[in-house]
Amino acid sequence: MARPKIALIGAGQIGGTLAHLAALKELGDIVLFDISEGTPEGKALDIAESGPSEGFDAAMSGTQSYEDIAGADVCIVTAGVPRKPGMSRDDLLGINLKVMKSVGEGIRDHAPDAFVICITNPLDAMVWALREFSGLPHEKVCGMAGVLDSARFRHFLSTEFNVSMRDVTAFVLGGHGDTMVPLARYSTVGGIPLPDLVEMGWTTQDKLDAIVQRTRDGGAEIVGLLKTGSAFYAPATSAIEMAEAFLKDQKRVLPCAAYVDGAYGLDGFYVGVPTVIGAGGVEKVVNINMNKDEQAMFDKSVDAVKGLVAACKEIDPSLA
Ligand code: APR
Repeated sequence: MARPKIALIGAGQIGGTLAHLAALKELGDIVLFDISEGTPEGKALDIAESGPSEGFDAAMSGTQSYEDIAGADVCIVTAGVPRKPGMSRDDLLGINLKVMKSVGEGIRDHAPDAFVICITNPLDAMVWALREFSGLPHEKVCGMAGVLDSARFRHFLSTEFNVSMRDVTAFVLGGHGDTMVPLARYSTVGGIPLPDLVEMGWTTQDKLDAIVQRTRDGGAEIVGLLKTGSAFYAPATSAIEMAEAFLKDQKRVLPCAAYVDGAYGLDGFYVGVPTVIGAGGVEKVVNINMNKDEQAMFDKSVDAVKGLVAACKEIDPSLA
C-alpha cells in the first residue's frame, strides 16, 4: 500500500517542525508548500538529509505549486503570519483571512478528500473561513487548539503536583484565546478531579486559579519570550497527534475546534469541544454537562468567536 500523503501548507516555524515530526513518526510522504521561494524546498531537503541518521522512510519535497498537493490525505495549514509581542491573535484576522481564501481554494481544487487541520490564528475564525472557502465536508475540516491548550494545562499541573504528565489529564473548551475555558472538574491526576485534589491539600484554589490563568496566557507567554514569533514545537506536536489519530483511525478523544451543529446549543459553529477523531475525520462531538459557571464561561468564549466570524464576513462579503 502506498504511503499516506501529508501536505503542509505553510513551511515556516510550525510547518518545518510538522514536517520533521511527521517524518520521524513515518506518518507518510510529505509535501511542504509555501509562497516563499526556497523555504519549503530548503526545509524539505534539510529534513530528508536527516533521514539516513534517523532511519526514517518518507519522501520529502517543497513547492510553490498547489498541484503538488494533489491527492493529499492530510493537509495541515499554518500559512499566514504569527503574532509579535503586544499583539493578540485577533490582530492577525485581516491578513490571515486573505491567506485562508487562497489556501482554501487550493485545497478545494487539489486535495478535496483530505482531512484538514488548521493552525493559523485567530484559530476559531480561520478554521471556519477555511472550511467556507474550501467547501469540504465540515467533519473533514477542524482546528488545532484544544490539544495544545490542554497540553499546556497538563504541563503546568504536573509541575505543580510533581507527578508525571502522563498521569495528568486536562480539559479545555471554548475558543483558542483569552476566553478559553479550562475545566478543573474534568481535569484529573491519576483519575482524581482537581477540585478533590484541592480538598486533599495537594494544592490551593489560588494556585489552581493561577495555573488556569497561565494556561489561558500560554501562547502570549511564549511570544513574550521569543519576541520574533510565536510557539511552534508544542503546536506542531499537537497537530501531529490529531493527524495520526485520523491516519491510523485511532478514535482518539481529543479537544479540537470542530463544527458544532446541535450540541452545546450551537447551530453550525466552529468552537473548541471534545471530539472523537478517526478515519472519518471528526467523527463525533462529545456533548458534556456543564454547571452554571462553566456554561457562562463557555458562552462568553463562544460570543468572542462569533464576533470574529462577524468581522470576517465584514472584511470579505463573499462569506456572508
Ligand atoms: N500561502 C502559503 N504560505 C503562506 C502564505 C500563503 N498565502 N502567506 C504566508 N505564508 C507562509 C509564510 O511564507 C511563512 O513561511 O506561512 C508561513 C508562516 O510561518 P511563520 O511565519 O514561521 O509562522 P508560524 O510560527 O509557523 O505560525 C503560523 O500558526 O500558530 C499560528 O499564529 C500562528 O497564524 C500563525 C501560524
